[in-house]
Amino acid sequence: MKEKADLIIENIGQLLSMDPTSEGTGDAADPVAGLGVILDAAVAVRAEQIIFAGKAADLSGPVALTAETKVIDAGGRVVLPGLIDCHTHLVFAGNRANEFSKRISGASYEEILAAGGGINSTVAATRQAPEDTLVALGLQRLDGFLSLGVTTVEVKSGYGLQTETELKMLRVVKELNRRHIVDLVPTLLGAHVIPREYRNKRAAYVDLVVEEMIPQAAGEDLAVFCDVFCEQGAFTLKETRKILEAGLEHGLLPKLHSEQLSRSGSIGLAVELGATSVDHLENATKEDAQKLAGSGTVAVLLPGATYFLGRTDFAPGRMLSDAGCAMAVSTDFNPGSCMSENLPLMLNMACLYNRLYPREVLLGATRWAAQAVGLQDRTGTLTPGNLADVLVLNTRDYRDFVYHFGVNMTHMVFKRGKLVRS
Ligand code: NIG
Ligand code: FE
Repeated sequence: MKEKADLIIENIGQLLSMDPTSEGTGDAADPVAGLGVILDAAVAVRAEQIIFAGKAADLSGPVALTAETKVIDAGGRVVLPGLIDCHTHLVFAGNRANEFSKRISGASYEEILAAGGGINSTVAATRQAPEDTLVALGLQRLDGFLSLGVTTVEVKSGYGLQTETELKMLRVVKELNRRHIVDLVPTLLGAHVIPREYRNKRAAYVDLVVEEMIPQAAGEDLAVFCDVFCEQGAFTLKETRKILEAGLEHGLLPKLHSEQLSRSGSIGLAVELGATSVDHLENATKEDAQKLAGSGTVAVLLPGATYFLGRTDFAPGRMLSDAGCAMAVSTDFNPGSCMSENLPLMLNMACLYNRLYPREVLLGATRWAAQAVGLQDRTGTLTPGNLADVLVLNTRDYRDFVYHFGVNMTHMVFKRGKLVRS
C-alpha cells in the first residue's frame, strides 16, 4: 500500500541523507562516504516524519500524492537534515562586552573569572532576571539559530549556582521548548563554577549540587543530562566524579566540559561513566583518543570558543577522528567564550583549525550531534521514521556550505514537516 504524503520536496540536486547505511558516491579527493549523498532526489513527509528520502525516480513506488499534498520545488539545491547544536548556554541575562574589551587589552578568561568577573557576572544578571525576561531573550536567540538552519538545540543551566535559579533556568528551557518550534534538550550544569558565596566552602557547594539541585531537577523532570565544568578554577576530577555519579543515580546522563583550558585527565572518567559526550578537548591526548574511540561517547569540538578566547590551541580534531572517535561540532553559544549562534561558521573553523574534512563536520552537525544529545533515533538523518527536520541550502554543491563562510546559506527550513523559514 502506498503512503499518502503531506509534503513532498522535489527537484533536490544533492540530498545528504546522513544515512549511516548508505555507501555514498564520492571520489577519493573529497569523499562523501557516510553522507548518504543521493543526486536528483526527493523527500516525502507524513505526520511530521520522513516517509521517503531517495532517488526522485523511485518516489512514486511507495508514496502517493493527494490533492492535499504540498509540493515544494528545491530548484536543484542541496538538502540535508536540520542542524543540531549539541552544546549551548542559551539562557542568560546581561552581556560581557566589557570583558571582551578587557581580554583584548591582555587579561585572560581565567584571570577575569578568578577576579570575580566572567561567569560570575552572568550569574549575577541571571539571578536577578525574571523568568519572562529570560524567555523573551531565549525566543529571540532561538530565532537566530533557526534562521541559520538549526532545528534542535541543547541548552545548559549554570548561571544560577543556587538551586532556585538553576531550576528557574531549566523551567525557562521548558517554556522555550513549548513556545518555540526548535526542539530543546535540557542539561543541568549546577557545577559550572563555585559561586562566590561558597568560595571558602567548596565541599558544601558540591553537596548542594548533589543533594539538592540534582534530585530536584530530576524529580521535576527538568533535565535529561548532568554536566560539569572540570577545569582549574572550576571543579576537580574528584568533585566531577561525585557529581556525575549522583546525576546517574537520579537518571541524568553525564556530559562533560573536558580538557578545555588545562589538562585534567577527565576523558577517562567520562568514558568510564558512559558519558553521552565530552566537549571542548583542546588538551586531549592520543591515549584519550583511544579510550574515546572504543566507547559510545561523542567527542564535541567547540572551535568558536578557542577562537573567541583569542587562543590558538584548537582541539586536535584530526587526531581524534583518525583514532576513530565520533566527532560532533557545536557553537558553545554563551556570553563569555563564544557569543555566536552561527553553527555553520563553526563548521568552517572546525575544518581549518581542528583539521576535519567537510564531510566530517557535516556529519558533526547532524548525525553525530544527534547522538551527542541522545536523539539519534529521532533526528540528525533524513531516513524514514525520523522527524522531517530539513534544511534546504542556497547552493547546488554541498561543499559550499563550509567553504563559503560567514554568510547565511539557508534557503528554507522545515521543522517536523512544517516550513518555518524561507
Ligand atoms: O563552555 N567552559 C565553561 N563554560 C562556558 C563558558 C561560560 C561563560 O564564560 O559564561 C564554555 O566555554
Ligand atoms: Fe560550554
